[in-house]
Amino acid sequence: MEFFDVVSGRRSVRAFTGEPIADAQLRKILEAANAAPSAGNLQAYEIYLVTGARQRQDLARAARDQLFVASAPAALVFCTHAALAHGRYGERARRLYALQDATIACTFAMLAAAALGLATVWVGAFDDHEVHRVIGAPPGIVPVAILPIGHAAETPEAPGRRGLDELVHRLGGRPDRAFRRAPSAPPLPARPFRRAQAGRPAPLIHWKLDGDSRH
Ligand SMILES: Cc1cc2nc3c(=O)[nH]c(=O)nc-3n(C[C@H](O)[C@H](O)[C@H](O)COP(=O)(O)O)c2cc1C
Repeated sequence: MEFFDVVSGRRSVRAFTGEPIADAQLRKILEAANAAPSAGNLQAYEIYLVTGARQRQDLARAARDQLFVASAPAALVFCTHAALAHGRYGERARRLYALQDATIACTFAMLAAAALGLATVWVGAFDDHEVHRVIGAPPGIVPVAILPIGHAAETPEAPGRRGLDELVHRLGGRPDRAFRRAPSAPPLPARPFRRAQAGRPAPLIHWKLDGDSRH
């Protein structure tokens, strides 16, 4: 799919058919996440892949009972791992870079899934401690986004967006006429395995399957 079609056509989907996702698709999505930029290329984040039915249900409950989370065949939990960047960049890394690294990776995964014709929804409302417990993460790993992935069982309307003339604040250069929408213009895009690295003990992608004893 063409990039701008992916960007404008992607929607948050909260109903999934339950049809499984092919491993090759999942791998492409994870590779896209792994291709995301990160501060100093330190990749101060971890990804937990949750596919077990029980863990998906626990995740849905931890996400303030957003039960659609469990109906997707897979969910990725993006977590900050600030210690990976803190050594080089100090407090700013702990406060900002790890969060940006994790959320850019989540964005890449979301767009990759859309490009493959799969549906996602970014879930940010959850109990941090509960999600941490469900994924069995060690201390220092903080979940920041859950991305359920599956086949859409609904086709949501585009919710619309603020106009660029309101959103974008241009300093200098040409007058901001370029950001105004012509009356005839179509609606704005809707309101539209890991690299080896020394000294990094934990794998970036953690599989979470039924029967995992850490649970
Ligand atoms: C940081 C963040 C947190 C979000 N948290 C939730 C959530 O907990 N539950 C949910 O159903 N949607 C959540 N969403 C999805 C938004 O509601 C959705 O992106 C927005 O309404 C725009 O719709 P669209 O994604 O279809 O363009 C979240 C999105 C973002 C970026």
